[in-house]
Amino acid sequence: MKSCKITALIFSIFLFIFFIYGNTAAQAQTSNSASAMKIIKAEGCLSCHTINGSGGSVGPSLSKEGTKGHSIHWLKVQIADPNKHFSGSIMPQFNLEPAQLEEVAQYLKSLK
Ligand code: HEC
Repeated sequence: MKSCKITALIFSIFLFIFFIYGNTAAQAQTSNSASAMKIIKAEGCLSCHTINGSGGSVGPSLSKEGTKGHSIHWLKVQIADPNKHFSGSIMPQFNLEPAQLEEVAQYLKSLK
């Protein structure tokens, strides 16, 4: 009977850990996309690109950018130096902090 209680206790501790872990992971995900969107808005990407229904149509919609098969590296190069992919591109070069560049690239890759 005693070992049964201990098993139940250990089981609930595991459940608790999974619960906390799942929650913080989900929070990290939403705060990442919110701050990526902040950078995107501040940099003016939406004057040319549409994301989730708002933005311009000078450049292609980025709402499903994650389905195009581009790597994180490709996305970073695209933002930092669009001419490397599209010579004569009207998209300006964006000189973001490496952490911001990473965040925006990860966010774009997650759009499906
Ligand atoms: C002046 C308009 C303009 C602005 C501002 C702009 N882009 Fe672009 N972007 C384009 C155009 C046009 C293309 C299409 C490729 C080309 O012709 O250069 C493009 C292409 C892209 C692509 C590649 C899409 C694909 O899969 O083919 C990504 C990703 C992208 N832009 C992200 C961004 C991000 C992020 C920002 C803001 C930091 C931004 N763009 C700002 C015009 C713009």
